[in-house]
Amino acid sequence: MTTAAEPEAPVMRGNRRVLCHIDEVGEAGKGFILHRIFKDKPEAVMPVFLVPDGNDIHCYMNMCPHQGITLEMKPDTFLDVERKLIQCSTHGAKFRKDDGYCTKGPCIGRSLTKLPVMIDDDGMVLFGA
Ligand code: FES
Repeated sequence: MTTAAEPEAPVMRGNRRVLCHIDEVGEAGKGFILHRIFKDKPEAVMPVFLVPDGNDIHCYMNMCPHQGITLEMKPDTFLDVERKLIQCSTHGAKFRKDDGYCTKGPCIGRSLTKLPVMIDDDGMVLFGA
């Protein structure tokens, strides 16, 4: 019997999980699959993504409110070509970067689930409240 390797334990700073350095987030964003995010469901994973917004950065659950699927077709590509709005690649819904509100497409008026992140003094993006 073959057993899949467990993902490495997440790197933590206090209670927050280290996602990456801010310089690793491309102009169209960066996606992650977070393992071991739920204490009562250690096998569950959570897809999330970061998008840059000037000197700020935002994190959302990678799940379109229209059909509950991930937004990107190409890896680490979450923004439209103008880099102004988050875009779902499947049916073209557009969401504001700062609050995830859908302004165009089949789920207009609904929002992506925003998640707390902060940038540490050395530029590391930390996930968690
Ligand atoms: S699944 Fe995202 S717009 Fe349809």
